[in-house]
Amino acid sequence: MPATVTPLRTPPSHPQSRRPAHVQALQRPPALVKVCELAFLRFEVPDLDATEAFLLDFGMRRTERTADSLVMRGTGASPCIYAATRGPKARFVGSAFTVPAGTDLERLAERSGGRRLDPKAIPGGGQGIELIDPAGHSVWLLRDRPALEPLPVREPLLAMTNTVLHKPRINAGVRAPVEPAAVVRLGHVAIQTADFPTMSQWYMRHLGLIPTDVQYLSDGSPALSFFRLDLGDEPADHHTFVIVGGLEDKVEHSAYEVVDLDAVGQGQQVLRAKGHKHLWGIGRHVLGSQIFDYWFDPNGLQFEHYTDGDVFTADFETHYSEFDLGSIWAWGVDIPPAMKPRMSPAVLWRVLKLVLAKKLAPQRLKLFGQAIGIPARPWM
Ligand SMILES: [Fe+2]
Repeated sequence: MPATVTPLRTPPSHPQSRRPAHVQALQRPPALVKVCELAFLRFEVPDLDATEAFLLDFGMRRTERTADSLVMRGTGASPCIYAATRGPKARFVGSAFTVPAGTDLERLAERSGGRRLDPKAIPGGGQGIELIDPAGHSVWLLRDRPALEPLPVREPLLAMTNTVLHKPRINAGVRAPVEPAAVVRLGHVAIQTADFPTMSQWYMRHLGLIPTDVQYLSDGSPALSFFRLDLGDEPADHHTFVIVGGLEDKVEHSAYEVVDLDAVGQGQQVLRAKGHKHLWGIGRHVLGSQIFDYWFDPNGLQFEHYTDGDVFTADFETHYSEFDLGSIWAWGVDIPPAMKPRMSPAVLWRVLKLVLAKKLAPQRLKLFGQAIGIPARPWM
């Protein structure tokens, strides 16, 4: 077993001020704006009917549907957490964030190279601008978003959990309803990029994101970062945006918060019964701590249910830990092959082009291969 395999202990994590000498800090550039919410994600899909059926079973609610578009919400106040239009093949189009009320959009567009959006094109309403990130993803910055009346959602069962020290539930059982896991809100999106340094700098500068946890390769170079929103003293999710340094520019997954652990479990039952394709879970992540369950939609895109994630205020120091597959989850079944990088001829060709263009150093590719090659749970 390689010396760096540490399956039965939590990988060490170092605050930035006390990180090992060889670990490079992910320096934060001055921010053009500090976004305050991940509003929704935009996709193109070939089959809106099949996609809508999956999302309903996943626990979202439909707010708008035409022959060529679909808008979904959660039980929270956001008028839209997911928007899709009909397209020739499934693809992630981009993300939409809200900016603080009163943000001068004209000035922001000038400084960030954005263009004004037609308000009629914004699902759920409001006004905003569009930026294009270095990988070509659309990023919308919106304000004046109307809020909807939240929909009723059951109380979390945790308050009535019997523990060894405290047993509040007497003469009663645990009876979570068998129903789709009511999605309350959009939590985060993770994207992979072949150019981690450029993309991480761009998102910190244009959205004001804070790196909560950075993972580095064995040479100390950052390769993955979990970013949270800068909400000052208000606690923000451990990550709202994740950038994974890899071989391609694509979406990894999007994640949606549900009311509690029993919603994750009962939601899994419903999705299985409806014949949807399971990906990974139930387990608990290490960085962010969420209890998770991952699914494929009919387009092969990855959707995560989660609950019990960590939250941090803006002053919490960035932490650094070494990247390997085993650091992704604390317990649960082994990570499936579909979540590991795959070497297809198309990916190999892309890698070759990146190496020839000097955008990807062969040494970095080797270190990345070593990190993901370490068996996470060798006994599985
Ligand atoms: Fe996630």
